[in-house]
This record gives sequence, structure tokens and C-alpha cells, in this order.
Amino acid sequence: MKIDIVTIFPEIARGPLGTSIVGRAAEAGLVEIGYHDLRDYTTDRHRQVDDLPYGGGPGMVMKPEPFFAAVADLRREGSKVVMMTPQGLPFRQAVAEDLSRESHLVFLCGHYEGVDHRVVEALVDLELSIGDYVLTNGTLAAAVVVDAVARLLPGVLGDGRSAEVESFSGEGRHLEGPHYTRPAEYAGRRVPEVLLSGNHAAIAAWREQEGLARTRRNRPDLLGGVEV
Ligand code: ADE
Repeated sequence: MKIDIVTIFPEIARGPLGTSIVGRAAEAGLVEIGYHDLRDYTTDRHRQVDDLPYGGGPGMVMKPEPFFAAVADLRREGSKVVMMTPQGLPFRQAVAEDLSRESHLVFLCGHYEGVDHRVVEALVDLELSIGDYVLTNGTLAAAVVVDAVARLLPGVLGDGRSAEVESFSGEGRHLEGPHYTRPAEYAGRRVPEVLLSGNHAAIAAWREQEGLARTRRNRPDLLGGVEV
């Protein structure tokens, strides 16, 4: 998969995505990530990417021209253009799974009060938000989405099963239960006996029950309860 990130702060994405599992996946050629400075697509001497909002109001709005030039440069047959914005569709595991089946993603990252809406109308296939809070910049949000998508690509996670048996994926959507490793007793607390029993059916049932209890406690909305 090819991924291009267009932002005035490429280093914000390069840091997290150049490290650990995604960094290694890129080195191995499992995913190719391009980092593009939006200012490289300006044509004026000051490399200006923002301007005053029509109709007044606080803050600046990002100009359309550099985004149009960037997309014209990067988009090809079958590309999907994603705009990161708090006004977007909520990003969830199911969206990560859909995006992981694409061949080319172009992420446009906003800054300031917003981006000229003609960019969204003319160029964007999907507006995405990573949560109900406002970041200073969409680049961190794009890095979150790219991380979640990249780990689903074939070969990126060593053990293929670990992408399947986890919270938010699959049918019966509830959170995972707790995990333990050695030692069996630490800080006066013992690992639950069932995990030491070797009884795989009992272990699976225990994990299911713990996952459900945690979901009831932390995310009742996943079980059709109250939105949190
Ligand atoms: N830009 C600023 N806040 C954001 C958010 N929550 N999701 C996506 N992009 C953003």
C-alpha cells in the first residue's frame, strides 16, 4: 500500500510512523509512506498556506490552491483522498479495515480554523475524525489512522492472529479482557488460576466474561447501552 501525507508539519507524522512496527513495515516495503510539506505546493514568495476567513470570525482558513496542487500531483487511478478534521466521520476499527483494502491513500491535514471547503467538495472522498476533541493540527490524527491501517496490512504484525483476536474487530464487539505474563505472583497479586490451568476452553470462557465485564464498566455504548 502507498500512503501520502500532506501537511505543513511532516515531522509530526514522520516521528511516530518511522518508529517501531510501522517503521519496520515501511523499511521492509510492506507500506510506502510519503511525507509532503504543503508549503512545497505554494507558488508565492512567502509560501503562504492560510488567509483570513470570508464572513469574518477568529483564526485563519487554509487556502485551497496548495491542496489542489498537492492532490493533482499525488492522486492517481484508484486513490482515496482523506481529510482529517474534527467534523469528519468517527474513525473506528471497521473504517481502518476498509481503508486497509485500498491501494493508495492520500491524507490531507488541516491546521488553524479549518480548510477552504472547496477542497472537501472537489477533492475529498472521506472526512475523518479520530475523536470528539480538537487537536491543534490534523497531522497527529492522520498518524493515528495510518498506524491503525498499517498494522492490518499482510505481514506487518508477526503473528497474524493478534490482529484478529482483539477489541473492536469481528462480530461480538466488546473489549478485550486483561492480560498477564510472568511472574505468577507479583506485588502480592496472583495471576488468575484459570490462566495457569492449561484448560483452553475455560481460559476462553474466562476471557470472554472478563471482556464483557470491562465493556459494561468502561464502554456500555458498545453493548447498546448509554452513550458515553
Ligand atoms: N484535527 C483536529 N482535531 C482533529 C480530530 N479530532 N480528528 C481529526 N482531525 C483533527
